[in-house]
Amino acid sequence: MGYKDVYESWKADPETFWMAQAEAIDWVKTPSKALFDKGDDLYEWFADGQVNTCWNAVDRHVEQGRGDQLAIIHDSPITGTVHKITYAELQTRVASLAGALRAKGIEKGDRVIIYMPMVPEALEAMLACARLGAIHSVVFGGFAANELAVRIDDATPKAIIAASCGLEPGRVVHYKPLLDGAIEIATHKPDFTVIFQREQEVAHLDEGRDFDWHGFQYGVEPAECVPVEGNHPAYILYTSGTTGQPKGVVRHTAGHLVALNWSMKNIYQVNPGETFWAASDVGWVVGHSYICYGPLIHGNTTIVFEGKPVGTPDAGTFWRVIEEHDVKSFFTAPTAFRAVKRDDPKGEFVAKYDISGLRAIYLAGERADPDTIEWAQKVTGKPIYDHWWQTETGWTIAGNPAGIEPMPVKIGSPTVAMPGYDVQILDEAGHPVAPNTLGAIAVKLPLPPGTLPTLWNAEARFRKSYLTTFPGYYETGDAGMMDEDGYLYIMARTDDVINVAGHRLSTGAMEEVLASHPDVAECAVIGVTDQLKGQLPMGFVCLTTGVNRPHDEIVRECVTLVREKIGPVAAFKLCAVVDRLPKTRSGKILRATMVKIADSEDFKLPATIDDPAILDEIRVALQGLGYAKG
Ligand code: COA
Ligand code: AMP
Repeated sequence: MGYKDVYESWKADPETFWMAQAEAIDWVKTPSKALFDKGDDLYEWFADGQVNTCWNAVDRHVEQGRGDQLAIIHDSPITGTVHKITYAELQTRVASLAGALRAKGIEKGDRVIIYMPMVPEALEAMLACARLGAIHSVVFGGFAANELAVRIDDATPKAIIAASCGLEPGRVVHYKPLLDGAIEIATHKPDFTVIFQREQEVAHLDEGRDFDWHGFQYGVEPAECVPVEGNHPAYILYTSGTTGQPKGVVRHTAGHLVALNWSMKNIYQVNPGETFWAASDVGWVVGHSYICYGPLIHGNTTIVFEGKPVGTPDAGTFWRVIEEHDVKSFFTAPTAFRAVKRDDPKGEFVAKYDISGLRAIYLAGERADPDTIEWAQKVTGKPIYDHWWQTETGWTIAGNPAGIEPMPVKIGSPTVAMPGYDVQILDEAGHPVAPNTLGAIAVKLPLPPGTLPTLWNAEARFRKSYLTTFPGYYETGDAGMMDEDGYLYIMARTDDVINVAGHRLSTGAMEEVLASHPDVAECAVIGVTDQLKGQLPMGFVCLTTGVNRPHDEIVRECVTLVREKIGPVAAFKLCAVVDRLPKTRSGKILRATMVKIADSEDFKLPATIDDPAILDEIRVALQGLGYAKG
């Protein structure tokens, strides 16, 4: 069957389609049906089944004779080590960790926050939670204590599992002091923490609250897999919205298993036993779906890579890892390739390695610019497949179904909708538009298995964010168009979310931080184009009347404040003091116009602008920051 047949077979009978895919999963109790319509636009998948994610990701492979196959390869060019773990070893390690967590009171439904760098123990912690039916929430290491505290208060975890430190090139990230700081800031306090002590930095443990990863496993009974309902939350993953309060995306257990398992072959073209590599971080959705769960559920070997595309030690790192571990399918963000291209424009490093085993390269996380795709195609000689999805969906909305049938690549398009997604382009009134017409990208409900059923403890926000603008549809927050062949083009966000090096960030959250500076009366943060990272945040602050301190001093404080409150990942370094912000007569800040000026793009003067002269002041400020030069 080709892609069109598969897509049509899903559309004609989604129930049969998904029940057939569910057969690839080991159920404790087989679900009676796929879709559970709860009414009022809420849906669940395989809700009355009983299943365990860890069993499907680990134990069943051992039972089926894959015990000696590698499950995880930890490749860390930062520490210069490679560590391999078989499925049998993984089973022992996860069962022991889960047993120790259980002995400290962790049960099905309890939340556990995981704050760890790219070490295999991060995956083991996730799997140990899954083994017990505990709901994990992994927090990215590049966030500051304050962001961690916000997540602690929202998820109210019974335990936090962390490492003593993370390793960025040339810098040790002190996780434990960040964790201590977060627990102090948070209103909710966990019962205990578990600290994985890395040899690069051993952390101080608070007696009675902090337990050593190895020590607390001593003498405990290993835990068996606890069956959970199909609609039991597997995890919560926080992502940026329009405000400083992140959205807690909930993932239900059964749909997650079914959808990820389907995607490994049909999208990523790997067979069980082969090595798959997603060069992302466990703190992001790509890390959840394609470093941890997808490859393991499907019986692949996954790579946990602790390094950067360049500088660890050079722009050949990706190709070295692909050769050394015989990677068949590789997933990264366009920004990573832009970094490699900058250091190795001719692809000389590629020629030093044998990457003949690699079938294809997959890009996601941000718009894949044609230059980058063409460069990657040229230097690797491999198909480069852009695909589009979000934290909310957990897997591809539109991609190249290469494992079913490779579709011709149209550069600039992530290709076509995957089975399960009825993607439509809508005008402001919610009517489908003609091909090649720009509109809001929406997905007709229900969303497929594996996507978010709701937000953690925030159903009203879930409805408001995704379901109310276009009744009967899920609003993706992206704008774009579809051509007459069904190829999608993703053009921009319709909200204030920006994408910096493939990291999704909220300008609203940064504005909240800037507004908290005592000298700042008003502010705006916009996302401007950056050659390497796609976008960079840029802040404009207006000072409180009477403040006459040097502007560069205030700018420095603003930059430090965002780094302290949100974290280094915000990459907030561009900021200027201005007298006034451009606004409409009703007082709305004209952020989109500011972006256009920064990027030297043509724009129409908004008819509702209050005082056009302010735009000249903004242009001068932008030029001072190296923008608006065109
Ligand atoms: N823990 C702590 N700090 C982190 C971190 C982590 N896990 N990840 C990133 N940071 C820090 C970086 O050290 C950097 O700090 P600095 O301001 O002190 O230099 C800052 O956050 C910004 O990080 P990032 O935007 O990732 O840039 P970078 O300089 O580390 O690397 C490239 C940038 C150019 C190498 C980039 O191309 C890249 O590959 N980024 C990662 C892409 C990615 O995997 N995205 C995930 C979506 S799939
Ligand atoms: P995240 O939730 O962090 O994965 O970010 C999701 C957002 O990143 C999407 O809503 C898009 O705005 C953007 N994005 C992800 N993949 C792509 C892609 N292939 N092309 C264009 N934008 C993308």
